[in-house]
Order: sequence, then C-alpha cells, then structure tokens
Amino acid sequence: MKITTIILAAGKGTRMRSELPKILHKIANRPLLQHVYDMSRQLDYNTIKIVYGHGADLVRDTLKDLDAAWIEQKQQLGTGHAVQQVSDQITDTDTVLILYGDVPLLKLSTVKALIANVNDKSLALLTVNLNDPTGYGRIVRDASGLVTKIVEQKDASASEQLIREGNTGIMAVQGEKLKKWLHLLTNNNAQGEYYLTDAIELAVADGMTIITNQPKSADEVLGVNNRIQLSHLERVYQREQADLLMEQGVTLMDPARFDLRGTIEQLGIDIIVDVNVIIEGKNSIGNNVKIGANTHIKNSIISDNVEILANCIIDNAVIGEGSKVGPYARLRPETVLAENVHIGNFVEIKKSSVAAASKINHLSYIGDATVGSHVNIGAGTITCNYDGANKFRTIIEDGAFIGSDTQLVAPVTIGKNATIGAGSTITRNSPENQLTLSRVKQVSITGWQRPVKQEKS
Ligand code: UD1
Ligand code: CA
Repeated sequence: MKITTIILAAGKGTRMRSELPKILHKIANRPLLQHVYDMSRQLDYNTIKIVYGHGADLVRDTLKDLDAAWIEQKQQLGTGHAVQQVSDQITDTDTVLILYGDVPLLKLSTVKALIANVNDKSLALLTVNLNDPTGYGRIVRDASGLVTKIVEQKDASASEQLIREGNTGIMAVQGEKLKKWLHLLTNNNAQGEYYLTDAIELAVADGMTIITNQPKSADEVLGVNNRIQLSHLERVYQREQADLLMEQGVTLMDPARFDLRGTIEQLGIDIIVDVNVIIEGKNSIGNNVKIGANTHIKNSIISDNVEILANCIIDNAVIGEGSKVGPYARLRPETVLAENVHIGNFVEIKKSSVAAASKINHLSYIGDATVGSHVNIGAGTITCNYDGANKFRTIIEDGAFIGSDTQLVAPVTIGKNATIGAGSTITRNSPENQLTLSRVKQVSITGWQRPVKQEKS
C-alpha cells in the first residue's frame, strides 16, 4: 500500500507573536515541521507533500533538505482549501494521510493504527477525548455510535458544544475518494472557510464508515498555537527522552532539569547526570561517565569513566577514557583529549590534541596545539597562536613541564622532557631535556625607600 502524506503547514500562527513562521519554532532544537516530517518519514512507501504559505521563502530555505514536494497555498482559505492545492498530485489508489505541521509529538504507532483502518469502505479518523474541547471540531455520532459528521466549534449548537470528543484533524482515506469530496466542499459556514472536516459528512453520505482511533496520550495530538503550548510540549518531549535514557541505565538527578536537544548515538550504562545539563547535536557517551551540574555538551564523544565536573562547555570535542574535565572548563571544536587527561578550572582548549595523562589544571588557554603525553602545563599558561592575521601551532612534546604564567609564542616547539621556567615568554624552540627560561634576573635594592605623600601647600 502506497501512502501520500500531506502535511498542512501554511497557517500564520498569529498567537505566537513572532516574525518566525510558527512551524519553524522549535522543540528540542528541531522545527515543529521537522518533527512531523521525521515521524512520517518512517512510514514505508510514503511520499510527503507539504502545503506551505505563510513565510514561504524562509520555510523552504530552512527546510530545503527535506525529501518532500512543496505546494504553496497562497491564500489560507481553510484546511479543505489547503488539501485542494495537492488534489491533482494525489494518486487514486494511494492512502492519503493528513497531518498538521504544528502538531509535533504525534507517534508513529498511532499513525500506523490509523492507517490500518483505511479501506474502500472506510475513512480513518483520529479523535481525542478532552476535558476542555474548546476550539476543537466536535465528533458527532448517531444513536448507534457511528460518526456522522464533524462540527466546528464556531458552527456547533449548544448541545454539540457539550461533546467532549474532539477532532485532531488527522485522518487517512483513499485518494480517489478524497479527491471527489474535495471538489464538493463549500465555504458556507461561520468562518467562511473550506473545511476539510466537511469531508466526513460527505463520506458518510457516500456510504462510508468512519473508523476512529485515539492516541495513547492527548499530548500526541496537541497543536502549538502559542508559546505556552510550545513550552508544554517541549517539557513533554524532554520527559519522554529522559524516561528512555533512564530505562537504558542512565541516572538523571532530576529528569525535569535535563534537556536532550539531539541524539546520543552510543550510550553506555551507569552514566550519572546532575541537574541542568544540556546535551545537543550528535553525541556518544560511554560507561560510568559522570556529568556535573550546568554542563553543556554538543556534538561530542565522551569515553568510558570520564568525569566532567560542574559548569563545563564541551563543543565538538573528544574526551578519552578516564579523563577528568572541569569545573568551569571550555573545550572548543576540534579538541581531542586522550586517556587520563586532566583539564581543570578556567581552562580553554581549542583545535588541540592532548595525549595521555597530561595535565592542564588551572587558568590556561591552549589553542592550535599538539600536546604530548605526561605533559604538565602550569597555571596561567597561554599559547599565543594568533599574530592578528594568521594562526600558528604550538607543539609540546612528551614529558615537558611548562612553568606557570608562561606564554608560548607560536610557531614554537617545546622538546621532549624540556622544562620551561615560570613566567617565561617563549619565542624560540626549546630543546629536549633542558631548562629554558626567559625571565629577567631578580634584583633586590638595599636602602630603597617607599615614596611618601607630599604635603599640599
Ligand atoms: C482544525 C479542525 C478542527 C480540529 C483542529 C485541531 C478544520 C476545519 N478544523 O481547526 O476540527 O479540531 O484543527 O487542531 O479542519 N492550515 C493550512 N491552510 C489553511 C488553514 C490551515 O495549511 O488554509 C493548516 C494550519 O497551518 C494548521 C492546520 O492546517 O497546521 C490546522 O489549521 P487551524 O487553523 O489551526 O485549524 P483549526 O481552526 O484549529
Ligand atoms: Ca489549531
């Protein structure tokens, strides 16, 4: 069975009060429309068509990589009108699935259950029982419980308004049938719109049965109309991800204060995550990793037994087994730490590799450097990698010891087991095994007196 998925995404989203089209607002750093797309992408034999309109250029530009046909709805004259724009691209024998671009948390399992109800005698409709169905179309059933029509809130009689079963807007039906009903829609209603929901009554008139199913949780079918709803769905989504991680062996000190805005492609067990941790992009985290509070990790690989203390920023970095980072460390892109490396507080590392068992424990900037193994870099060491125009590399070979408050002016190489005296400005290569220092000799002046304040005349 082939499927044509039509995602309705032309609406403005006035209540977002935003310059950004609603469907580009994000949950877990992914646009709402992308969530809907990613879910429907998992259906087999599926062609995706997106009806877009408001913010057309920006929407297409932002989501240009989606494997979907884009159909512009220049004027938004209703959900029925939106689907009409795609009418001539619908294959008769396809099952047409209608989704909304602003309903991001719908689950594949729910959609599969919906599609399973489609045949030449039935239309499948996803409905939801709500305590407060305000704003939703109401599902009207006859005495035997069969669905006869959907009535929009604004067109509903007093008794119809009491119906708690709401229309999610999500439905599936054979293409040939849908196309026929689309031609018959009128805008003769309270909002002067072409309602897709009128197709239900037309289907019933054609002798079709409406088969309904419901999502496991109402959150799946909630749409985003304002930023309060956006934040609610963000929390729902984050809680689901947190639960999945905990099921896989991760301890989250507080699942309500954890955000995964991306994926952990490889996940170990016995990972302990303290509060307010954000993990973004594509990551891998090994066994027995501890992540301290307020840490932000992005596109990074963290090996087994790594400990990251509080308040670190780790961006596009690799941390080798048993290494310890932080608190207050910043690992910038292309940082690669080997095993058992120690990076301490207020240390920034960029585009540098640090080999096994080396230590950079306090207040340092290491950029564009290759650091060997068993190197000790003292407090306040800075690689001067930039002359204002070009960047140069610093090479520090195995076993070197860099005294505190040293500037290494690149390009420069510190030889194996070399020692650099504290407070040096190193501008030339420093040989192996030797002590190199560039410090002015210390003098003490005998009989020197502090200046005294002059009396004002
Ligand atoms: C619609 C349903 C209502 C249902 C509710 C669920 C109709 C007539 N009503 O109402 O029964 O309970 O959704 O949320 O279908 N859109 C377009 N082009 C348009 C109009 C809408 O692409 O011309 C898109 C919107 O961007 C949105 C979706 O269709 O993604 C729903 O539109 P919206 O205006 O939110 O419909 P409701 O009035 O809420
Ligand atoms: Ca809506």
